Amino acid sequence: MNVLGIDIGGTGIKGAPVDTRTGELLEERLRVPTPQPSSPETVAEVVASIAGHFGWNGPVGVTFPGVVVDGVVKTAANVDHAWVGVDAARLFGGATVLNDADAAGLAEVRFGRGRGQRGTVLVLTFGTGIGSALFTDGVLLPNTELGHLRLHGRDAEHRASARAREEHELSWEEWAERVEEYLRYVEMLFTPSLIVVGGGASKKAHKFLPHIRLDTPVAPAALQNQAGIIGAAHAAAGPPAG
Ligand code: BGC
Repeated sequence: MNVLGIDIGGTGIKGAPVDTRTGELLEERLRVPTPQPSSPETVAEVVASIAGHFGWNGPVGVTFPGVVVDGVVKTAANVDHAWVGVDAARLFGGATVLNDADAAGLAEVRFGRGRGQRGTVLVLTFGTGIGSALFTDGVLLPNTELGHLRLHGRDAEHRASARAREEHELSWEEWAERVEEYLRYVEMLFTPSLIVVGGGASKKAHKFLPHIRLDTPVAPAALQNQAGIIGAAHAAAGPPAG
């Protein structure tokens, strides 16, 4: 099935049509800067313009960087708080809407690094915040929000996200130390068989992953920045037939 996947991030809104059987992008993705403020109205305009760009009338899947239950936004840590309580599925014209990290995780588990991996797989995205997607034997437990676990009395994402590295001007090694501490914490809680590291930072995995020592295997995401688009489309396509 062909589905338009749209990934809403703190700095960019990206979209492309996806073949949900293969997870491949059917056209070059379009990226539009996230409007500021990123209110529901301004973001909905961008989402509509991306659909317009691809001349799209078919099914649409959209990610959102907060808790989403039945299409309704419940939290908005890194975007305009006006989103809380908004029925995003309705706002986006009946699209399937899900958490951004859950979408990225679905794509990694279906088509990327977590493919065929049994047991507990944790996909963590390091970007503006830290997103999490938790799977057991390929089944997602949605909205886990592990970026908000407390470390040293603060939200872990304030210490160990990619944004924290930039804001605190940390070297890759210094940042890796913080990421390792965070990963040890989630490892202690879930004993995963694999941790997949995604999000913006995954493009630079070779700079920090070699500094990280953990009992659990830690692998960079295979789909990197396209995971959100692919996962959103995959979620909108529903469970595979058969
Ligand atoms: C949000 C999550 C989101 C993550 C990555 C966190 O601040 O609470 O819902 O998945 O950032 O965008």
